[in-house]
Amino acid sequence: TGRCVVAVDGPSGSGKSTVSRRLAVSLGARYLDTGAMYRAVTWAVLRSGVDLADASSVAKVAGETDLRIGTDPQGYGVTADGVHVEVEIRGPEVTSAVSAVAAVPAVRAILVARQREMIAAAGRIVVEGRDIGSVVAPDADLKVYLTASEAARAARRSVEDATDVAVTAADLARRDRLDSTRTADPLTQAADAVVLDTTELGIDEVVARLRDLLTERG
Ligand code: C5P
Repeated sequence: TGRCVVAVDGPSGSGKSTVSRRLAVSLGARYLDTGAMYRAVTWAVLRSGVDLADASSVAKVAGETDLRIGTDPQGYGVTADGVHVEVEIRGPEVTSAVSAVAAVPAVRAILVARQREMIAAAGRIVVEGRDIGSVVAPDADLKVYLTASEAARAARRSVEDATDVAVTAADLARRDRLDSTRTADPLTQAADAVVLDTTELGIDEVVARLRDLLTERG
């Protein structure tokens, strides 16, 4: 039960959240959803009314927001300035604005620092996001990059969010493009990441593969 950090990156709909949570439960580890942190900051930015294109104002809101997030894989709370935002951060307003907010380097600097503190405090933790293996925790014990076909990802997300699959597919494609092409810490596969395509794999199979990998690495 020493230190163990697992970094799980990949595009949305790749199965990251479900796999990361289940893996954390089975390891008796903490879990950090860094996407929820970017979403909560986006919620605060939208509430403040600042222009999304005004990077310095967006960064100022990010710096002034009291963001708290739990690390229990079985259910964590997210608050921004004391307001519970678990539901709102999954809504369409936040989802369509989050990639713009996450592209601001000063926002990333603030959140990456927080993430590193939380990882150090937890010791044993599964962390999911876009830049965990490449930037946040380059010394992770295991780095995983999950992918799936665009069709499979859109189908999963539209079931989870109860939205139309064509609308979801368009939104995923737009966010993937923004997340992969931004200059600050884009979505990338770390050179030493294990790549798993989950299109044809069940969640249990993916979790079992990752557990085996961790065992192999001691
Ligand atoms: O994972 P999730 O879909 O909740 O992430 C929402 C958005 O937050 C992503 O589309 C991306 O723009 C941003 N994000 C990021 N870096 C992370 C996690 C999420 O830029 N580590």
